[in-house]
Amino acid sequence: MSNLRGKRILLGVCGSIAAYKAVDLASKLTQADAEVDVIMTVAAQRFVSALTFQAATGRSVYSDLWTSGASGGLPSHIAHIGLAEAAGLFIIAPATANTLAKLAQGMADDMLTVSALAAACPLLLAPAMDGNMYEHPATQANLQTLQSRGAQLIPPESGRLASGLSGRGRLPETATLLGHCRRVLGLTGELAGKKVVVTAGGTREALDPVRYLSNRSSGKQGYAIAQAAIDAGARVVLISSAQHLPTPVGAQLVPVESAETMCRAALEHVLGAAALVMVAAVVDYRPRQVAQRKIKKTDSALRLELARTDDILLAVKAQRAASSYPNIVVGFAAESDNLLENARGKLRGKGLDLVVANDISAPDAGFAVDSNRVTVLDAHGGSQRIELSSKASIAASLIQRISSLLG
Ligand code: CTP
Repeated sequence: MSNLRGKRILLGVCGSIAAYKAVDLASKLTQADAEVDVIMTVAAQRFVSALTFQAATGRSVYSDLWTSGASGGLPSHIAHIGLAEAAGLFIIAPATANTLAKLAQGMADDMLTVSALAAACPLLLAPAMDGNMYEHPATQANLQTLQSRGAQLIPPESGRLASGLSGRGRLPETATLLGHCRRVLGLTGELAGKKVVVTAGGTREALDPVRYLSNRSSGKQGYAIAQAAIDAGARVVLISSAQHLPTPVGAQLVPVESAETMCRAALEHVLGAAALVMVAAVVDYRPRQVAQRKIKKTDSALRLELARTDDILLAVKAQRAASSYPNIVVGFAAESDNLLENARGKLRGKGLDLVVANDISAPDAGFAVDSNRVTVLDAHGGSQRIELSSKASIAASLIQRISSLLG
């Protein structure tokens, strides 16, 4: 469930050892229901065969400008024009120094560069090469020229290169490349230009330097919502206490620990925001005293005195009354009893526009798993039940709902 579904994507592959990684990208894009047309340079075919891409995408692969293969279903019988016209996104991964130089000069001497000149869709460049080749002023100048014309760069990563040397020039992993495709496709989405703040994860309330109180929230639903908002074009601020989850490409991550630090970050970032989606499972009680040194065990029971943490949504409600930001506030209600009644109480009490009621007593939904079953209640008495689905799909429908509320 992503904005890749149904999109026609041109994948240009150049002659670099990283071409093998482009096969995985072609496969993952296809699995995400995109239509992937691969264009290979002659050098790329030295590393990977056209047949490999054809098998991964189930579609023709283009390489020879003069006998360019099937052009059925394209808006022009001339393959490079048809491919360029049909594409919603052109990603070149890996992009070699040679192809970047040709693109910067507007040269068009093979199927890939001709199509790039003809394409009016967004162009994403993922350079991959030796570190010195990447850092070379000629390559950097070419990249700058291309970016000044609107091309978007996926910066190469540092690390071990095929030469055995280390440097900056590695093609990022598929998940990162996919994230950039989603980010760029989102730029014309319904939330383009809007700021959306999402909180995620269970907060951690310190007891001593090594221990804390928390809960079983994984942060997965919050991260899925952040990704869905990026898919729709939003500028996402992800305030997160979750650990070990990859940050969606394009999100501004604000790492926090406690309810107090999350509250401060939320109040700061909702200013100017179109929406706040408060998915975080905020811990309601914190140890009154935080021991400066590790608490040692003794033979007697340990008594903890707990104090209430601040309610972040109530703090946002008070600030919103004065600043009018954020325009829309969405809360979650994690309940094991009286789901809808409790959720409605939270909708009213916390001044929400929507509340997502989440029955956490079911083993297949809610905390830590990849699926969820929710009911979305609105401030006008409406309710929408979403049966067991992936957290990504729940996220997409919630973001759609928020877009329509924002008009
Ligand atoms: N929330 C918050 N600040 C808190 C506690 C919760 O902003 N200190 C937010 C959560 O992020 C969620 C909503 O309030 O969007 C409801 O959270 P939930 O834990 O279900 O309810 P609580 O208000 O904590 O009440 P209870 O735990 O008694 O059900």
